[in-house]
Amino acid sequence: MKQQVGIEAIAVALPRRYIDLGDLARARGVDPAKYTQGLGGLEMSVAEPGEDTAALAASAVAKLLANRALDPSRIGMLVVGTETGVDHSKAVASYVQGMLRFPQSMRTFDCQHACYGGTAALNSVAEWIASGAGAGRVGIAVCSDIARYGLNTSGEPTQGAGAVAMLVSESPELLALDVGVSGTCSMDVHDFWRPLGRREAVVDGHYSIQCYLEAVSGSYRGWRARALGRDLIRSAEVPSEQLARIAYHVPFCKMAKKAHAQVRRCDIEDRTGKALDASAEAEETPRAAASFETQVAPSLGLSARVGNIYTGSLYLSLASLLHKEAALLTGKRIGLFSYGSGCVSEFFSGVVGPRAPTAINSAGLDRVLADRERIGVEEYTRILELPADRPLGTPPPPGAFRYAGTVDYRRSYARG
Ligand code: HMG
Repeated sequence: MKQQVGIEAIAVALPRRYIDLGDLARARGVDPAKYTQGLGGLEMSVAEPGEDTAALAASAVAKLLANRALDPSRIGMLVVGTETGVDHSKAVASYVQGMLRFPQSMRTFDCQHACYGGTAALNSVAEWIASGAGAGRVGIAVCSDIARYGLNTSGEPTQGAGAVAMLVSESPELLALDVGVSGTCSMDVHDFWRPLGRREAVVDGHYSIQCYLEAVSGSYRGWRARALGRDLIRSAEVPSEQLARIAYHVPFCKMAKKAHAQVRRCDIEDRTGKALDASAEAEETPRAAASFETQVAPSLGLSARVGNIYTGSLYLSLASLLHKEAALLTGKRIGLFSYGSGCVSEFFSGVVGPRAPTAINSAGLDRVLADRERIGVEEYTRILELPADRPLGTPPPPGAFRYAGTVDYRRSYARG
């Protein structure tokens, strides 16, 4: 078993355009505060037909290679987590391998379980390295998705699109994972799903929130038991407070606040052996709010401006957190919660690496956001109504990829 395994570097690729959620609310006749305060979002990425899941994934991997000057012959494994792939059979990982002309010696495949697919990809690569099977090579886990609920639906303000690529290695400059110390919780539920042939998800929105919260409880309790057993944390009034920060899967920012209150509720109720009564609730509410500001809010900056990117949402939170606070967090343990509808979830942890400030700097996240163009509701509506298989003539920006068209059922891609 390797001493240290985790995330060495991260790169984010976003569609070139976004919509302001205030504009969307006004067009829908909704109070903008519902989207900005009620759901916690500011902006939402909008993918054009050429910016499909494979193109976004390849663009993120290309940035990762460029930022790290990484020699592709060192990469032994490329795993893509996605729930919005471009083929029922051929893996997005194969498209990415082709676009980047990666060596044939790699193991490549996709992982799918709604938004959990990204964590499945990360675990596959991390455990391959930890077991020694990687034999000194590095691996890449990519999360890439386009979240679509459709125009005029209640899920509409919780869409988004983008890809996060992570270099996983024995030099975890960003985050050394506590391999083997995680808690999982899964159930067979219909909270959110996308039947074959549909572009838009079907969702039972309020029920999905309940499922997520039940999953947080199960996963967090499992992690806490293992973390206590391994002396990563000690028994305390609220053990979760020993995590310097917690990054959650973020379908919309308010969800992270609900999740964090649930984690604390688990701690408090397990200690007292009873459900919070009205007076305990009144005492806990301001404490949970203060703890949210310290432990969670710093991870939400990117999600508020990008929206839900499904598999990549948790890793967008991690990138956001390190972008904001890496210097404060080096050597500290943080928690991470991954949720995929259907459902499966995992609470895990890791320690921020000593070189995290430099490593996150190289991701150039301010530039990734600044390079986007704001569009109005009319243009957003036009884009959402375009057929998926009709790419626009827009050339990709330098270094990025775009879907270029299909001939004989074969998709092709262009590089800028
Ligand atoms: P809704 O029913 O339109 O909204 O849909 P609401 O009425 O529940 O209001 C939302 C919040 O805004 C509430 O706050 C309101 O009080 C507040 P809360 O009570 O929850 O704290 N509000 C206002 N605040 C300020 N000023 C106002 C105002 N009006 C209302 N004027 C819903 C919301 C999230 C259900 C919908 O957008 C949806 O269905 N989204 C998609 C599903 C989703 O994101 N589920 C999350 C859990 S499942 C998950 O994370 C998995 C997923 O990522 C997929 C995967 O795994 O692949 C989705």
